[in-house]
Amino acid sequence: MKKILVTGSVGQIGSELTLELRKRFGGSNVVAGINRTQPTGELADSGPFLKVDTTNIEELASAVKKYNIDTIYHLAAVLSAVGEKNPGLAWNIGVNGLYNVLEVAREYKCAVFFPSSIGAFGPTTPLDNTPQDTIQRPTSMYGVTKVTGEMLCDYYFLRFGVDTRGVRYPGIISNVTLPGGGTTDYAVEIFYEAVKHGRFTCPLEKGTFLDMMYMPDAIDAAINLMEADPSKLKHRNAFNISAMSFDPEILAAEIRKHIPDFVMDYDVDPMKQKIADSWPNYMNDTAAREEWGWNPKFNLESMTADMLKVIREKHSKGLI
Ligand code: SER
Repeated sequence: MKKILVTGSVGQIGSELTLELRKRFGGSNVVAGINRTQPTGELADSGPFLKVDTTNIEELASAVKKYNIDTIYHLAAVLSAVGEKNPGLAWNIGVNGLYNVLEVAREYKCAVFFPSSIGAFGPTTPLDNTPQDTIQRPTSMYGVTKVTGEMLCDYYFLRFGVDTRGVRYPGIISNVTLPGGGTTDYAVEIFYEAVKHGRFTCPLEKGTFLDMMYMPDAIDAAINLMEADPSKLKHRNAFNISAMSFDPEILAAEIRKHIPDFVMDYDVDPMKQKIADSWPNYMNDTAAREEWGWNPKFNLESMTADMLKVIREKHSKGLI
């Protein structure tokens, strides 16, 4: 029986991934690791949770021991824009936290899922159809921590046989928990603003193409990769995965199909723009498709329709 620990379980991805893992593997078998933010609602009620600060290796080891954990989904992280404002924090959580997770996984024989990102690429990377294996010289601290993480995960597999696996996530669009300070957050915020106010001020310039994905596909990716037959995996970590690529104008036009009066203007954030310009326009995710059957279900049209449906419902109930 699987015994799973999710670090960062109250975050954007963690809050939804933890619930899906509990559905599939049983509530009591999936421990929600939390740090500063307390879980609420279904996340708090559907299974165990406890404080796991990943920068504290004793706390991490004691959680793994207490619950006989065999698989860690390590989602605790600092996103790109916050990381630029506080590079030391980004390094500490991004690299030292992961190092602790890998050390504990080595000792207690756990498998580890590590989410890397489009942020692991940089301005010298080929930005169109970005290959799986290519130049990675990121210029944000977030990116530096993600490349380091990819290499650490490969190292722990090759050197110690730890079953590490991971993907390079694009911007994740979701409607349960807001993202916490990334460059791609605009593609979430735009939906809330469109429903609430019919307008949005975009922090990225028109023409800024980035890979994106709807949350159900992001969750499937993590679970399907961890459940994949290891003999088929030529890569283990850092699989490019994408579901769609658009710029702000294309997303706004899609929203206008549902909210014809939607207005978007621009107030470009230079720091976010610089980061976004250094990231791929669209990645090649053939390796993930071939090695473990990556196949996203949502495209721009279906994601937009679903996002607006859910956010309109929340708005009508006074929840947002
Ligand atoms: N969504 C992330 C960010 O913008 C990218 O992986 O920081």
